[in-house]
Amino acid sequence: MSGPTGVEAPAVMDLDDDARQAEVDTADALADVEQAPAQWRAALEAGQDVRAPLDLVDHVVVCGMGGSGIVADVVAAVAAPRYDLPVVPRKSPGLPAWVGGATLVVAVSYSGNTAETLASAEEALDRGAPVLGITSGGRLAELLEDAGQPLVLVDDPGRPPRHSTGALLVPVLQALELDGDLDDAIARLEGITVACHRDVPSADNPAKQLALRLAGADTGVPSLYGTAGIGEVAAYRLRCQLAENAKMRASHHAVPELCHNESVAWDDTSTAGGVLWICEDPAEQARVDVLRDLFDDHFAWAEGVTAEGASPLERYASLVGLLDLVSVHTAIARGVDPTPIAPIDRIKAAL
Ligand code: F6R
Repeated sequence: MSGPTGVEAPAVMDLDDDARQAEVDTADALADVEQAPAQWRAALEAGQDVRAPLDLVDHVVVCGMGGSGIVADVVAAVAAPRYDLPVVPRKSPGLPAWVGGATLVVAVSYSGNTAETLASAEEALDRGAPVLGITSGGRLAELLEDAGQPLVLVDDPGRPPRHSTGALLVPVLQALELDGDLDDAIARLEGITVACHRDVPSADNPAKQLALRLAGADTGVPSLYGTAGIGEVAAYRLRCQLAENAKMRASHHAVPELCHNESVAWDDTSTAGGVLWICEDPAEQARVDVLRDLFDDHFAWAEGVTAEGASPLERYASLVGLLDLVSVHTAIARGVDPTPIAPIDRIKAAL
């Protein structure tokens, strides 16, 4: 198959060939993802003691972009069913007009140099809002240190931001006192990483099996559908990880909202790619089952994953633990190095 620029789609590779993995995945991104549970645990055990002034605020805005911005989505989705304060993700420069002195602004940027996040933090300081920074350094650290605002400095061992989300997410959860379920979430991540480790052959490895589906789809763009809230965040995370790691497009949407719009497009099967159903919410399982019965055969292939665990955070971990591995295995299956992100570098340099 040829793309718009005439680039040949790569042949799908064997995922049980260690030598080929090492040749394609030059920086061993797979190791970064396999070590995610250790990264979350190290952040938990570091026990950062910065606590947000929660009794002085009535809203929380979490700002960040890309691999740091997903932290904002996760925190908002985890907080929604159980937190007294509204938590609003912000993924563009500046802040909503209602943000003022009674809004906590959490600025998350792994590098500390992302223009949009810096602009939000600067605006928060101008408006007298309390700001909490989570970063490895950069201009964000300087800005908040100069302003006397609290800062959690995370290690930068040279890992890409998108593979550092545990190191960023854990201190935000701790600062917001949303960290009660972290132990269970990490245990869930550990279990998945063992079950889906590179040494487990494709025949028994759910991450490799799903990656082979995604890499093998030669018709259209895959659709990733998650149940509203955490399932939708997991679908979006996979979409972003497939883009950055596997250099591959995907679309995503949420159940039940897609019942009221996107479902109508499924009758056009001429360009259909595969579909992945991501069910996080047990209350939505019946609806997902009906949709699958009615429409799975409108897609090139259809697969489903279901979250496990009692708490929202554990359930998110059960999904992202699998899906992050899927994205790197998809890159390897396509013969694409997961680490370089040249277009992002070009855009940042040009702005
Ligand atoms: C790179 C990545 C990007 C960055 C984004 C923001 O691995 O995932 O999406 O996260 O460009 O940069 P930071 O995270 O440094 O604020």
